[in-house]
This record gives sequence, structure tokens and C-alpha cells, in this order.
Amino acid sequence: MNDVDVRRIVASHPDPEGRLLSVLEAIQQRWRYLPEEVLRDVAQELQIPLSRVYGVATFYAAFSLEPRGKHLISVCHGTACHVKGAGQFTERLEKALGIREGETTEDGLFTLEAVRCLGCCSLSPVIRIDGTTYGRVRPEQIPEIVAQWRGGKGDD
Ligand code: FES
Repeated sequence: MNDVDVRRIVASHPDPEGRLLSVLEAIQQRWRYLPEEVLRDVAQELQIPLSRVYGVATFYAAFSLEPRGKHLISVCHGTACHVKGAGQFTERLEKALGIREGETTEDGLFTLEAVRCLGCCSLSPVIRIDGTTYGRVRPEQIPEIVAQWRGGKGDD
């Protein structure tokens, strides 16, 4: 991480309208989370209080203050998915990845999270990996899906 990257990101978002949000989105994309030292640099570059930066960073669920893996696996635990056994998917994924929900694999490849409704309840049960949605997924498909992403799916 270096402040040159932060300066470049800030400079590429000159529009004052929604500037902080855009800068934080770019930082999240660059580092996959919002590192504390980078948020300090952002406050300095934008000449705003650090508390304001944290206010926005903690308001939106899309931002993470903890390091995230290259691929984010979201298991839906909304009502429709829950009644169709969403808990099993979390268990299977925890086993396949060797981590617990909310954690990131040691190799930095995957972060596993639980979410409330991915907005496609008719496809329940649903998991999403980055932008790919798996609907009507069956627990026995989990190892194969993980293997595909380990093998480079989503890298192109
Ligand atoms: S409850 Fe799972 S997609 Fe809505």
C-alpha cells in the first residue's frame, strides 16, 4: 500500500458530488477492503475529518474494514433460502474452505459471509460468488463450485 495510489485515486475522482463515496469504492476495489492507514490518507487528501470517512465506510455493507479474499462467497440466509436449508450451505462451505462464516481463507482466495436475501428468492436456495449467482443449488454441488473458483473461474 502506498499513498501514491491513494493520491492517484483521489485525483481521478474530482467531482465533489459523492466524491468520498466514489473514492472509497475505488479503494475497496483496489485493496478489496478499506485499510485503516489508507482511510487516514483519504481524510488527509480530501481535507476532511477521519470521522467522516469512517462514517461513510461503516454505513455501507458493501465496504469492509477487514481484509477480504479475492472472491466473496455470500450465502443467503433470508427466509426463502433459510427454509430450503441455507444452513447446510454454510456448513458445507466452511468445511470445503476450512474457515468459519465471516472469515477469509489463509491463501486470501475466499471470504465467506452470510447475507439477508440476495433478491432472487424464487431461485432459493441461493449463493453468490462475486457476481455469479447459483440458484436452486444443492449442497452436494458445493465442492465442485469451490473447485471451479479455486481453478481460476472469474479470473478472465
Ligand atoms: S431469501 Fe434468499 S434470495 Fe431472497
